[in-house]
Amino acid sequence: MKTHVLSDKDLQKAAKIIENGGTVAFPTETVYGLGSDALNPAAVKKVFIAKSRSFNKPLIVGVPNKDEVYKIAEVNKLAEKLIEEFFPGPLTVVLQKKQIIPDIVTASSCKVAVRMPKHEIPLSLMRMAKRPIVVPSANVSGRPSPTTYEHVLEDLGGKIDAVIVGKCNIGIESTIIDVTTKLPKVLRLGAVSVEELQSIVGDVQVETQSYFSQYGLSKPLYVFTGKNTIERIEKFIEKIEKDGLRVAVISKSKIDHANLIEIKNDFAINLLTALRKAEKKDVDIIVLEIPEIKYKEVIIDRLTRFAKVFRV
Ligand code: TXA
Ligand code: MG
Repeated sequence: MKTHVLSDKDLQKAAKIIENGGTVAFPTETVYGLGSDALNPAAVKKVFIAKSRSFNKPLIVGVPNKDEVYKIAEVNKLAEKLIEEFFPGPLTVVLQKKQIIPDIVTASSCKVAVRMPKHEIPLSLMRMAKRPIVVPSANVSGRPSPTTYEHVLEDLGGKIDAVIVGKCNIGIESTIIDVTTKLPKVLRLGAVSVEELQSIVGDVQVETQSYFSQYGLSKPLYVFTGKNTIERIEKFIEKIEKDGLRVAVISKSKIDHANLIEIKNDFAINLLTALRKAEKKDVDIIVLEIPEIKYKEVIIDRLTRFAKVFRV
């Protein structure tokens, strides 16, 4: 299959692909998504196959406006508040599903995860195709999420019909909250913080899971945070190289090392690119310095979902 590379001027073409049951990857405000017609089981199946994703793992459904949520799910009071506050944006809400959503989307669960991306490309695509679109991240299952169309082609080139060139803004996936339970349950930490959620719905439970025992990133990660990271990293590298292991370093700081990948700004977005770069180098391990930024803990949580992480 040829994967067409489209620009944001080709949205009509992309919408046609979706209408005809095909697969299109596109940027969202969080990471790249892989879309197909959420109401067409055969189209949804193509997304699972392209991602090599287990049919047990449900897909998020993207909607073009708030009203659409009510057509595909039962919206209770808590959900209503969250939708008012955070849609469009990086929050996914898990609700009781309505019949219109095929079982393949939710892995036969009676609940559906819904989000409205805050990005013109998927929103226009859904409006033009006149239907909701599934919005899982556009990577092979278990790999880091893509934030550029090149990442998407690395993972899914030849397996999907098209990818639209564009920009993601955050580089961290949406936060997922299940509001069907008595106490709302945060299932995945993400771009909306737990505190922000609490300010709208009160008390919440946090019950996040790491899903993978096999790691999508092929090299282990040694993560350094907190005080004196540079000195600690330099000492660590000295020791580990003495043991004969080869190292790549990802850092905001100018650490003196041949395999340094420097992240100058927008840490979350550029980290995903840096990890793909580091992995391709001829090294055994990746050392990573995470600066004191707002998303620090969310990023570490996310890393554990696709990499073997040692916190040093
Ligand atoms: O920011 C995001 O949410 C990105 C963009 C592209 O939309 N998408 C994304 O999708 O991260 P994905 O498939 O990589 O992760 C979705 C997560 C999975 O862990 C899945 O198990 C969970 O959402 N999920 C989907 N439907 C669910 C449901 N009905 N109940 C519970 N969890 C669900
Ligand atoms: Mg994903």
